[in-house]
Amino acid sequence: MRRLTWSDVTPKQLWLNRRQIIAGGGAALMAGPALARIKAAPSRYSTDATPNTFEEITSYNNFYEFGTGKDDPKRYAGALTTDPWSVVIDGLVERPGTYDLADVVKGQPLEEQIYRFRCVEAWSMVIPWIGFELAGLLNRVGVQSGAKFVAFEALVRPEEMPGQSSRFINWPYREGLRLDEAMHPLTILATGLYGEEMPKQNGAPIRLVVPWKYGFKSIKSIVRISLTDRMPPTTWNMLQPQEYGFYANVNPKVDHPRWSQASERRVGAGLFAGRQDTLMFNGYEAEVAGLYAGQDLAVDY
Ligand code: MTE
Repeated sequence: MRRLTWSDVTPKQLWLNRRQIIAGGGAALMAGPALARIKAAPSRYSTDATPNTFEEITSYNNFYEFGTGKDDPKRYAGALTTDPWSVVIDGLVERPGTYDLADVVKGQPLEEQIYRFRCVEAWSMVIPWIGFELAGLLNRVGVQSGAKFVAFEALVRPEEMPGQSSRFINWPYREGLRLDEAMHPLTILATGLYGEEMPKQNGAPIRLVVPWKYGFKSIKSIVRISLTDRMPPTTWNMLQPQEYGFYANVNPKVDHPRWSQASERRVGAGLFAGRQDTLMFNGYEAEVAGLYAGQDLAVDY
């Protein structure tokens, strides 16, 4: 069977633009005539695995603020107002404040990061994000020396988020990282995918992406980032601590209590494609294993 190429899976204009990048030796994406493209240079961390299609990435989602079904986010997220948007940055920082989205992204170099994405439910995708390093923002606001963790909160707006009428999650959805994880160059704040603004069901206008951790760490629609000296409470860990740890590093050797994590189903790969092996740290072991030297990952799961 012929191997799929970018032109099979990519909207034509974007594919043409990618050819221009290659021709231009890594120059920023050109604005296509039909669609306003986000300017972004390719990331050194991108995988050369074939990305999932835009359709797959935007119609099979977890975003409980809109419901628990995989198609609820696509169905209901259209009503979400993402402009204006601001992010509170507080806690152990030099320059706390309420920052407009434009101010959060100001001066941060956007890159296209094609990352593997592995959900704790054992499905996976490859997603061409547009984003910038979280470290760039943290350095700009100035991290105080006592800070050890970064806590994130997502939007609470029940009138636009029908899933928030259900109380099974104590809203807001919360996540957190250790400071060294947050400062790692693989950790990004993403504002788009496939060269366009972030689709609402994928966490518009700004979300976290931590590609070596299970997808639930990658919190969507962020409104607050707090630097703290304590490990912060996180949504899935609070709900089911025996099943979801704080670290949630992708690890094929530590099974979920109810299913194996040794393999995964690549969304869209077809009924007969079979499962593929899950890689330690989702394939980013060379980059991130050093963060966990001396830690027992079966305990710190
Ligand atoms: N962020 C918020 N705010 N609410 C959520 O329910 N779900 C998480 C994560 N971020 C979630 C969230 C889970 S479980 C996964 S697997 C990913 O988002 C899914 O991201 P995707 O839909 O863009 O693939």
